[in-house]
Amino acid sequence: MRICMSPARSVMRTLPAMNPLFNSNRMKLGTFSTNCSYGATATTAEGGLELTWENTRAIAMASDAAGFEALVPVGRWKGFGGLTDFNGASFEVFTWAAGLAEATSYSAVLATSHVPVVHPLVSAKQGSTIDHISSGRFALNVVCGWNPDEFAMFGSGALRSHDEGYAYADEWIQILRRLWTSEDEFDFTGDFFEMSGGISRPRPVQRPHPPIMSANNSEIGQRFAAKYADLSFIGIRAGGEGDWKRLIDGHKRLAREEFGRELQVWTHASVICRPTRQEAEQAYQYIAVERGDTEGDPIRRMNRPVPPNALRRIPGWGGFPLIGTPESIVDDLEALSSAGIAGCLLSWVDYENEQRQWIEQVLPLMEQAGLRRPF
Ligand SMILES: Cc1cc2nc3c(=O)[nH]c(=O)nc-3n(C[C@H](O)[C@H](O)[C@H](O)COP(=O)(O)O)c2cc1C
Repeated sequence: MRICMSPARSVMRTLPAMNPLFNSNRMKLGTFSTNCSYGATATTAEGGLELTWENTRAIAMASDAAGFEALVPVGRWKGFGGLTDFNGASFEVFTWAAGLAEATSYSAVLATSHVPVVHPLVSAKQGSTIDHISSGRFALNVVCGWNPDEFAMFGSGALRSHDEGYAYADEWIQILRRLWTSEDEFDFTGDFFEMSGGISRPRPVQRPHPPIMSANNSEIGQRFAAKYADLSFIGIRAGGEGDWKRLIDGHKRLAREEFGRELQVWTHASVICRPTRQEAEQAYQYIAVERGDTEGDPIRRMNRPVPPNALRRIPGWGGFPLIGTPESIVDDLEALSSAGIAGCLLSWVDYENEQRQWIEQVLPLMEQAGLRRPF
């Protein structure tokens, strides 16, 4: 048990700059959705993630050794059916992060807290515990959630309307931050929460508190992120570099001008990297079209309108499509960086093997392009 840290280590680790989320790499990297079966891709193509602790830990340890900045889980309680029952098995996010905090030494470990079903006192306490286990590498992704099927398991009141969900999240996060920062007991009375004598000990290692990420799409979600988050996690599903830049500049401006805050903007990217463009295209056809699990695809089930200038989407969590050769992928990353993206959370069909290829073939090219420093 790490009861005593050496003074030097504990002082070093209390500096927020030690959390790799704040390092100087122009394009930070992480993994996404390795806590769920089939990861981020709803496909029956070979190599989809089988959810075992050994598998998720191996991916985290490879990420950690390669200097990836972030390990981000999906907050999920139930699968989406279809051929794969996409995300049907998922490790609970805080306990997952606690386990990985012990297994890693560099990457930030995140939990993705569903605001409607986890009380802020529980999140504060769990987050602080993981911050101690990881010596100051914890961060919390705060999400309102959206999936009626999974919230039904918590009872009828769990899922609020979209905007009321964000009003609830506003109070939730105020309480969380006070629990993480307050020296003294406090009371809180809001529209949704009543708290008497609120206190959480120990305080987290990071000061004033661990970084906050917020995953959002809507205008109100962007405002929430601008007000409270250090990292906004957005989907890039349409348009070109100019559109992305306008969106991201506006988002950061909102944070700076209305709330006096600096905001990093991150996205999720789905990777299909092959030696030639033709092989990458064939692999896309196979993974997304021939073997795509349309019925289990959550985004398709949301019935969102597809914008006319939509990017290609891989079924599942459908991140920004990084489909091509190592060289063309680095060009795409350069374009995302120019548009203002600070970090990409990556997913592959076959995390273990394709992440190894990324580390061997893409990472050195990113370093040559000045997107990252050698680790
Ligand atoms: C990149 C990204 C990642 C997300 N991850 C999760 C997640 O892990 N679990 C979840 O229930 N919702 C997730 N969401 C949905 C958010 O919880 C958010 O509440 C939902 O998108 C509704 O808010 P919005 O309209 O602002 O997007 C994610 C959204 C985005 C854009």
